[in-house]
Amino acid sequence: MDDLQTRKDDTLKAITAADNADAVEALRVEALGKQGWVSQLLKTLGKMTPEERTEKAPIIQQSRAEIADAITARKQALDDAEQDRRLATETLDLSLPAPATPRGTVHPVSQVMDELAEIFADLGFAVKTGPEVEDDWHNFTALNMPESHPARAMHDTFYFPDHDEDGRRMLLRTHTSPVQIRTMVNEGAPVRIIAPGRVYRSDSDATHTPMFHQVEGLVIDKDIHLGHLKWTLETFLKAFFERDDIVLRLRPSYFPFTEPSVEVDVGFEVVKGRRVLGGSGDAPGHAWMELLGSGMVNARVIEFAGLDPEEWQGFAFGVGVDRLAMLKYGMDDLRAFFDGDIRWLQHYGFSPFDQPTLSAGVGVSA
Ligand code: DAH
Repeated sequence: MDDLQTRKDDTLKAITAADNADAVEALRVEALGKQGWVSQLLKTLGKMTPEERTEKAPIIQQSRAEIADAITARKQALDDAEQDRRLATETLDLSLPAPATPRGTVHPVSQVMDELAEIFADLGFAVKTGPEVEDDWHNFTALNMPESHPARAMHDTFYFPDHDEDGRRMLLRTHTSPVQIRTMVNEGAPVRIIAPGRVYRSDSDATHTPMFHQVEGLVIDKDIHLGHLKWTLETFLKAFFERDDIVLRLRPSYFPFTEPSVEVDVGFEVVKGRRVLGGSGDAPGHAWMELLGSGMVNARVIEFAGLDPEEWQGFAFGVGVDRLAMLKYGMDDLRAFFDGDIRWLQHYGFSPFDQPTLSAGVGVSA
């Protein structure tokens, strides 16, 4: 115990003398870390007789508390000194003139995400996000893609070598659909959300990049049917493309997480070499283009998320945000989105002062 007293005094002295955060941290690890000497002493308590423990436990615990307090105090003092130093040396010249024109631009992906949030907020949708580093339960299993499901192979998934504490395989999410599960699990029903964000697949050419953006939509409520889905998508696309003549075609398709599943096509024509949405794809000079995937949420997915599918049902959709941006603003190479070329950003970027609003228009050009 004399040893303990000496060692504690030495540690406290060293803490007071430490002149940077790393040194304090090293002392903390040495004393209080998992392998630290105080922690080791605490472990010996279990092997003592009750009498010995009653005598020694308070002394060791008291030492631990003193060292912990000293460390907190020293870290605070170092932080304060650093702040004082910066306040004394850094200056900000408020009399400098602002640049004549704002230099930065809002990236088209950010702009489109703001537009989506604006349009869907008006329809009563909240915006949700989820982690980009996901586990395979949320990304696949709960979306009705069990281990052996062939759709898993279609996703070209980036896996991490690690598993989480529940033994789930970790991955970079391949779509925004896991946010459906997270929202239902965390918040229950009803649900009315969109979930924009980054997704990752091992794929790369002029129209595919290893990272891209999607927006997911999910509505869970009572007596929801395909008509609600079609109306919602039509209302969204008319607002987004700022045209009343957007015509949709719903085609039967297959996704594991929806039943029935529909692929949504939109009518377009080619004007001056550019695809312009509007009109029926069956009209003269027009054609259909595949735009997004959707469907009625599979009862199994609702069950996986802990809700009763007899009581709750709904629809979901997923669409590429970069794709929406290209169609609306006319870029033709997806890879340029992520090059960070200042000339591209100046050309396709938006003024930070042009916030998309439904009243002023969601498509104000820079
Ligand atoms: N998660 C799908 C994908 O990335 C897209 C999708 C399709 C999302 C249908 C949905 C849906 O919510 O209902 O390929």
